[in-house]
Amino acid sequence: MTRTQVGIVGAGPAGLTVAGLRRRNGIESVGLEARTRDYVGHRIRAGLIEQGVADLLVAAGVGDRLQREGLVHHGINLQFAGERHRIPLSDLTGGKNVVIYGQTEVVKDLIGTRLADGDPLLFEAEDVQPLDLETDRPRLTYRHEGEGHELECDVIAGCDGFHGVCRASIPKGVLRSFSREYPYGWLGVLAAVAPSSGELVYAHHARGFALLTLRSLELSRLYVQCRPDEDLDEWPDDRIWEELQSRLALDGWNLAEGPVLEKGVTGMRSFVVEPMRHGRLFLAGDAAHIVPPTGAKGLNLALRDVHVLSEALAEWYRSGSTALLDTYSSTCLRRVWRAEHFSWWMTSMLHRAPDADDFDRQLQLSQLRYVTTSTAAATSLAENYVGLDSV
Ligand code: FAD
Ligand code: DHB
Repeated sequence: MTRTQVGIVGAGPAGLTVAGLRRRNGIESVGLEARTRDYVGHRIRAGLIEQGVADLLVAAGVGDRLQREGLVHHGINLQFAGERHRIPLSDLTGGKNVVIYGQTEVVKDLIGTRLADGDPLLFEAEDVQPLDLETDRPRLTYRHEGEGHELECDVIAGCDGFHGVCRASIPKGVLRSFSREYPYGWLGVLAAVAPSSGELVYAHHARGFALLTLRSLELSRLYVQCRPDEDLDEWPDDRIWEELQSRLALDGWNLAEGPVLEKGVTGMRSFVVEPMRHGRLFLAGDAAHIVPPTGAKGLNLALRDVHVLSEALAEWYRSGSTALLDTYSSTCLRRVWRAEHFSWWMTSMLHRAPDADDFDRQLQLSQLRYVTTSTAAATSLAENYVGLDSV
């Protein structure tokens, strides 16, 4: 049996950021991750970070490379009915921006910092079980390198994503869950070609949604709406480019093609559990909530949860006050629900639902015309997109 202050389950962006606690607040932690370091560091997912979240990473001492290599964006484009319209995010939000910096890079930076600080982070931890959550000595049992271990903690941070064990270890009847499935998914590719647009393009098209984004000045990231259970074998690279070409087509503009380095299908769902705490277990990030990717809120929400948790733990260890720990769930859920609504709204406005009729399509087009012509409507989109400080 070993002891620590905070036992962290999961080394995704949420778990790794909780792990940064010691650097700022002197709080000790042990991280347990089911996968290998290589797997965690190469999982291609999010790429867009709100300015406020980038600032949190810098303040936590893990933002040097993000500041050097992140690409700051001041606007995005919405495309529909053969026209592209720019939403000037910074002009509409008093100068706020978003940063393109891959989740893979965030994770590499966080792992590097943690290991350099000498804090324990165990990869390939098997059969992790959170126990005694309702006591003041919760435990994590697990197997590592063939041996059974037990870790006694003050609190457990459940950062093990949507399919993790932490949420599932809370007794039935405690949590209330809310969810929505969407009848489509995203097929995403990473391509070795300079992005054809300096700013993101979200395209609403009769053939379905498409998104042009990027990872660097040499790497494009592109998504097309597909079925949620789409078989990747049915999507050779030529078909993906053909689909992207027709959905993103614009007079006088060309989509440059290049070698596809990686491709995958992402399902889309909305999901929230309340509360995000049970006894001494605190859920953070995808373990507590999922948004559909349109609007890029998932990673941002995960890091905001952890910021709230870190401040609450720091206050508790400093003064003995549980006030911030007690409001952790309600504080996070206010932001979570705002992001849930925004992501659902962006998704509904931009995708083609299989059962949509002409009435639905006219409503979508009307909404798109409204957000691209009314300053009030565009400002609402912009302030949600760059991230609201208070909700
Ligand atoms: P995760 O990243 O899922 O990490 C959880 C970790 O826990 C994993 O490493 C997992 O291996 C580990 N784990 C699971 N079970 C156990 C267990 N039993 N024991 C130990 N460890 C365990 N978000 C954005 O903000 N912007 C975007 O542009 C964006 N684009 C996306 C594109 C795609 C294709 C996808 C799939 C997601 C995207 N997201 C985006 C969402 C974002 O990637 C997630 O919200 C984010 O990864 C959540 O971080 P997390 O740390 O909470 O969970
Ligand atoms: C990216 C993903 C998103 O879901 C989004 O809305 C914007 C950007 C990305 O992967 O870069």
